[in-house]
Amino acid sequence: MAKERVREVFESRYGKDYRMFAAPGRINLIGEHTDYNEGFVMPAAIDRRIYLAISAESGNRASIHSIDYNEDINFDIEGETQNLPQWALYPYGVVKELQKQGFMPGGFRAVFAGDIPGGAGLSSSAALECAFASALNAIFGFGADNFKLAITGQMAEHNYAGVKCGIMDQFASFFGNKDKVIKLDCRTLEYEYFPLELDGHQLLLADTRVKHSLASSAYNKRRRQCEEGAEIIGRDHPGVKSLRDVTPELLRSYRNKLKQEVYTRCEYVIEENSRVISTCEALASGSVDKTGELMYQSHKGLKEKYEVSCQELDLLVSIAAEAGLTGARMMGGGFGGCTINLLRSEEAESFREKASAEFSSVFGHPPIFYDVSTGDGAGEI
Ligand code: GLA
Repeated sequence: MAKERVREVFESRYGKDYRMFAAPGRINLIGEHTDYNEGFVMPAAIDRRIYLAISAESGNRASIHSIDYNEDINFDIEGETQNLPQWALYPYGVVKELQKQGFMPGGFRAVFAGDIPGGAGLSSSAALECAFASALNAIFGFGADNFKLAITGQMAEHNYAGVKCGIMDQFASFFGNKDKVIKLDCRTLEYEYFPLELDGHQLLLADTRVKHSLASSAYNKRRRQCEEGAEIIGRDHPGVKSLRDVTPELLRSYRNKLKQEVYTRCEYVIEENSRVISTCEALASGSVDKTGELMYQSHKGLKEKYEVSCQELDLLVSIAAEAGLTGARMMGGGFGGCTINLLRSEEAESFREKASAEFSSVFGHPPIFYDVSTGDGAGEI
């Protein structure tokens, strides 16, 4: 158990004077690549987390031990540090982003571990950012609210990990609520909880176990293309600040004025936003079948128009469709990671078998399945 391991390791190194924090990973029911376009998303926090034991120390030194990477790093809180391993860029980035806002952490010692599978599109890196943001805010008494802390995590990702992500992952990590999905308006950060009542259905993740290396550069490129589309339309329509403000009709009138690829990316985003709204209506009226249909449409858009899927994800979704599952789609940034499947509970076993056999025969290994349980957001435990 990650939580107990973290306690044990911290206590054996530094003693019993510490505080414990946790921050969850997330799933996303629908609304992919809409967050950085000021659109809508529907994530939920899961019951897999990063656990962090931490104590403040005199002086300016941050000492962090990762149990999972079996690695120690140190840096001077005030200085600029180079050559950190990838995982350490997240806590380092959080420290730097807090400082930019005038919050000055002192020295600290921390030990962490987690049970969120890495590279599976479940936002283990956002959870790490949020665990540190929550912990540093509490032990140094900054009094920042969870909105500010979520944005701090997002900025650490932009400026230190180099991914120009939206706010979905960090928001879900802070605002998650057991048995609920969050409908988040990424423009205003207004949010609403929807009960995840699936009427005899469940969610099941299938992890392809691939992570293509072009993921972060392709992600940033998609973001630029969307911004380019919004910018060109905005020149003639000053009310248009992002794709959120572009209706399908308005976009169509730009078919010949945008590069083909930019046009198609924008079209996907606008359609996906309206799928999120339709999913909310479907959930409110208890229509699980409609929710599933929208998930398949989302996958088709991500594959054909946004082009962020890959063969492994496509195969899993087509196996799901063939098996008659209610819904399935790739989840998260794309180019690997998991599909999210909506299925009747009694279908779970036979789908696992079918998907394992068919996926193995093409890619030489089965996917890994995770049952989804939702959980609460980041904070002290
Ligand atoms: C990654 C990013 C999120 C979001 C998704 C795609 O998880 O971190 O901000 O853009 O991809 O929906």
